[in-house]
Amino acid sequence: MPASRRCAATLVAGAMLLALPLTALGDESRDALIVETILRIEGFDLAGSTKAQGAVERYLKNNWAGERYLDLVERFELRDEAPGVLRLALEQVDSPAGAEAASLLVTLGKGELLASTLKGKDETAAARAAQAISHSGDAALMNELPGVIADSARPVAIRSAALSALYGKDPEKQSRLLATVKAGDLDKDLRQTASEILMLSRDPEIRKEAKTLFAVGGADYPSISELLKLKGDPARGKQLFATKTCLVCHQAGGVGINFGPGLSEIGDKLDRKALYLAILQPDAGISMGFEGWEVVLKNKAKLVGIIEETEENLNITMIGGAKQTVAKEDIETRTKMKQSLMYQGLHQLMTPAELADLVEYLSSLRKAG
Ligand code: HEC
Repeated sequence: MPASRRCAATLVAGAMLLALPLTALGDESRDALIVETILRIEGFDLAGSTKAQGAVERYLKNNWAGERYLDLVERFELRDEAPGVLRLALEQVDSPAGAEAASLLVTLGKGELLASTLKGKDETAAARAAQAISHSGDAALMNELPGVIADSARPVAIRSAALSALYGKDPEKQSRLLATVKAGDLDKDLRQTASEILMLSRDPEIRKEAKTLFAVGGADYPSISELLKLKGDPARGKQLFATKTCLVCHQAGGVGINFGPGLSEIGDKLDRKALYLAILQPDAGISMGFEGWEVVLKNKAKLVGIIEETEENLNITMIGGAKQTVAKEDIETRTKMKQSLMYQGLHQLMTPAELADLVEYLSSLRKAG
């Protein structure tokens, strides 16, 4: 069937649907059905049907963040819905829907809502706006970030979020951040966040330099037998787990991302000595199922992460938790890595006493009961 005829046929079906009383259905299901239908009709004129408009309005109101919410706003360019899209971009900033909402705001010409939230007083919202801006990748919005980073009158949490948003993804920008830190030009309040960004860079050279730069233990780090003599404080260790990048890859005590093995019961599996070993020498024993793979695609893109295979595809989970599915026919090579995906040298971000606190905390994580 030629496209125009097919389109005409769906149009007729859509028109019939809108004309039907559909009394058998409840209001909400009827609205949902109308929404599904008009989304399928190419070039549907929403302004031309008050019935469809009513259904769309009710649907948006009752299904904020629902399955078709963003689709509807995008398809019919519903600019009035921008506040709802902003809320979604902020509240679900860590999910794919949140990232989609951030980009949609820019498409709708409402990117300024993210900019004004970033500059606003609400600390949580401003920090999330920074992250949403990085999702949108919009150049004008990204240009708002340096001003926030430099403004020492603003809370450190917001400035740190802006720093991550600006430098988190792009190794080229990260080399500039590295140079700023080396020159001693970075505010010391932002040093912790800068160390996390650089230690987790995709570029191994940057990681290597960052390790030297932020190392507090130095070359004369105590051996495991010496570390075992230290008595750690689990409460301090819990805080360190969150601030020393562990939670970028592990879940424990209800926080973190499940990229590496979950650590919520690690105290049952590994004693203190084995815990030290896992942190000091991650390459020594790599947990089954968490081996790293390097996948090179025919278009030369390179992906590194944990893989899961289906008949036709490879699902790759990358550091940070982002997932990508690639068709096997698009793959040129895949190689199992000898190194662990957990970076060697993370302990050097901590003093030996801090490391002992962290190990004490991990060792205390056991199955309840
Ligand atoms: C970049 C991601 C990443 C970061 C950051 C990271 N890890 Fe890991 N970790 C992994 C992966 C992947 C494994 C499994 C592979 C392996 O055993 O080397 C692992 C394994 C472990 C294990 C062994 C788990 C087991 O079941 O045997 C421990 C313990 C551990 N990590 C603790 C930590 C601590 C503490 C930190 C913070 C200082 C940390 N990790 C930071 C990715 C990471």
